[in-house]
Amino acid sequence: MSRIDVLAVASEIFPLVKTGGLADVAGALPKALAPLGVRVRTLVPGYASVMALLEETRTVRRLPDWFGGAARLIAAEAAGLDLFVLDAPHLYRREGGPYADSSGRDFADNPIRFGALARMAASLGQGLAPRYRPAIVHAHDWQTGLAPAYLSYDGGRRPAVVFTIHNLAFQGQFDPRLLESLGLPAESFTPDGVEYYGDIGFLKSGVRLADRITTVSPTYATEICTPQGGMGMDGLLRGRADRLIGILNAIDTDVWDPSTDPMIDAEYTAGQVERRAANKAALQNRMRLEADPEAPLFGVVSRLSWQKGLDLLLEALPALIAEGAQLALLGSGDAALEAGFQAAIRAHPGRIGCVFGYDEALAHQVQAGADAILVPSRFEPCGLTQLCALRYGAVPVVSRVGGLADTVIDAGPMALAAGAATGIQFAPVETAALEMALRRAASLYRKPATWRKLQRAGMAVDVSWTGPAQQYAELYAELIRERAG
Ligand code: ADP
Ligand code: GLC
Repeated sequence: MSRIDVLAVASEIFPLVKTGGLADVAGALPKALAPLGVRVRTLVPGYASVMALLEETRTVRRLPDWFGGAARLIAAEAAGLDLFVLDAPHLYRREGGPYADSSGRDFADNPIRFGALARMAASLGQGLAPRYRPAIVHAHDWQTGLAPAYLSYDGGRRPAVVFTIHNLAFQGQFDPRLLESLGLPAESFTPDGVEYYGDIGFLKSGVRLADRITTVSPTYATEICTPQGGMGMDGLLRGRADRLIGILNAIDTDVWDPSTDPMIDAEYTAGQVERRAANKAALQNRMRLEADPEAPLFGVVSRLSWQKGLDLLLEALPALIAEGAQLALLGSGDAALEAGFQAAIRAHPGRIGCVFGYDEALAHQVQAGADAILVPSRFEPCGLTQLCALRYGAVPVVSRVGGLADTVIDAGPMALAAGAATGIQFAPVETAALEMALRRAASLYRKPATWRKLQRAGMAVDVSWTGPAQQYAELYAELIRERAG
């Protein structure tokens, strides 16, 4: 098989800049595709934090006026990633995160910031960099959704475009008067182009104009085609269902490996799960929980947002406490949810512990020390923390939606008897069902042989990128064949 060149474009990439799972996927997939003959180079914005981490930079092109300021396209390497970086200080070098300022307010010029990124992806696809002609442009999420629009309306030879939906809740819908500043022709403003309910829709553009749409789990792929799960986009998605496929996410099993993890107290393999006791004790200490080796310890590592259903967990806390259990939560985001958990700590000192903020090492420690990991999401395109949990022998307790439904096998009697069960699922996504799941988990935990079986089965699951990367490679190859034919 000859080599396939793919230009990926994403607004975040682990380990350089991350707010969620998108970064993990953008960072891990290139590594997994390399042995399959797919060479991925990834275009990212030159945020200040990214610029600081680049090794071996080379200016590919000076861009005297790129969306309102002087910019450069840089080729660079960092953390084993092969990158193009759009260094546009007027767009990306500012205080705050990738999307919002330090007080959490979205940058007002986000449509321009990400339009500029998508435009660069299209230009690279058309040969802007000497001797580089990718066969595929793979664009991730709304921030890059205009890439296929630029390619469609420019005319001429263009690479095939794959557009991946990581989260339909973020659609990038903006004022139609921006059309000209975005450099899009008037003819693009139609329902078959970038128009979306009278606005410009970035995600809509990706979904409408890409050659293939992928999303991050098979179940989410079907959910988003329904009015309940489609968030206004289901009609369009149903119309393109023959171009839509769900490819399950995975995790970087080098970064997430309990047998070598430098961030945890005691390393262990599937045959040594008893060694997790030291990690549990360390986590209880860190989260100011009572040193109680017998208490079932539930962990959460999450953005605090409506999507993640943590308000339901707040309501279910009395049931968790009644089971003699503890909660260790690491999360950041919504202030009201944070206040809710603060109040819960005061109500149940020593039984509920939280760290608010973003802490990569602590995320590993929660996975290695908690007995179970809770993911009560209202919707979940894939979810990565339940995959980490499987790998770390923490039993996932999840709502039966999206990728959670696809990755956890519920401990029903038959699955338990067959040794197939890896966790607990609940539905519907309501407090009462979550409470039942917490009770089920606590009672299974109190049967050590059964619990161990769940842990071992979970740790035996292949959560690596090997399988999914193969599916992406096949998708790319199919598109190339289609083009040639
Ligand atoms: P989403 O992308 O919707 O936030 P995922 O489960 O796909 O959800 O990915 C979340 C990623 O972010 C995981 O790698 C998880 O470990 C990490 N993460 C989430 N919250 C935190 C936090 N507060 N501190 C450290 N890591 C976090
Ligand atoms: C999104 C989704 C999450 C998914 C991640 C990576 O942030 O919320 O479910 O795992 O993207 O695809």
